[in-house]
Amino acid sequence: MSLSRSLLAALFAATVALGLSLSSQARDDYEARNEALDDYEPDLEAGEVMFRQCALCHGKHGQGILGGKYPRIAGLPEYYLMNALRDYQTGKRGYDAMLVVGGLKTYDDRDLMDLAGYIADIEIDLDVPGPEEGSARSGRRLYKYDCKTCHGRKAEGKSRKDSPPLRGQYHEYLERQIQLFINKERIHADDPEDKTFVAYEPDELTDILAYIASLDDKDDD
Ligand code: HEC
Ligand code: HEC
Repeated sequence: MSLSRSLLAALFAATVALGLSLSSQARDDYEARNEALDDYEPDLEAGEVMFRQCALCHGKHGQGILGGKYPRIAGLPEYYLMNALRDYQTGKRGYDAMLVVGGLKTYDDRDLMDLAGYIADIEIDLDVPGPEEGSARSGRRLYKYDCKTCHGRKAEGKSRKDSPPLRGQYHEYLERQIQLFINKERIHADDPEDKTFVAYEPDELTDILAYIASLDDKDDD
């Protein structure tokens, strides 16, 4: 009994380790696939047609709905959209309805480029409210110390780090993602061993989200 239980535990650990190493390998594979697309000019009209399926949940302008139950996607940078869409395709990020209803399941790399190119170009004015609690002031300090190197001085995202902008996104959605990172249901910073969120108290995370919500989405220097 105890033997088979420890065997099961070992098998489970091996499966988890394999799963995680496969998912980091998957990102290397994305880079190789991106290189093959180097000369490809996205067809934005084709992207617009595909986007109609996405608008069912993300809103007509990709502005997101229901306080971030469906996140804003308009204006997310291409490099990040390509990673995210492939992560949903491979199951590294889980949300099956997007594969079927959104049509993602059938798209190849060029389709993804058309779609990402179109979405990245959508400009909207969206003033997202911050959390009701939380101090943007103390959030600013924490953000500068722990998030700025990768997400940018004004949370505008950094292509060099493959990191998305955080400003202009619903705090409810961001908070849900942080919870997924903490539960290891989504990998943060492409590092299965990432420890960014372990030392934070919930109210400190709320402070960071309050600070992010206070940033101007259009401030681009
Ligand atoms: C059935 C509803 C639905 C449809 C259709 C849908 N999405 Fe989503 N999408 C969601 C939900 C819900 C999430 C958040 C899931 C999560 O928490 O991981 C999401 C998350 C995303 C994200 C992640 C955003 C981020 O900041 O990481 C991207 C990108 C995205 N969707 C793009 C698309 C595109 C492109 C399409 C069309 C091909 C599409 N979605 C169709 C519901 C949908
Ligand atoms: C080592 C670099 C790094 C640091 C430091 C970092 N991040 Fe990230 N973060 C990333 C990357 C890369 C992603 C994109 C992950 C992906 O592609 O799925 C990300 C994604 C996120 C997301 C998901 C956004 C979305 O649209 O789904 C949130 C929320 C987030 N980070 C919050 C934070 C916060 C808050 C801090 C500071 C406490 C922080 N990060 C520090 C690199 C970093």
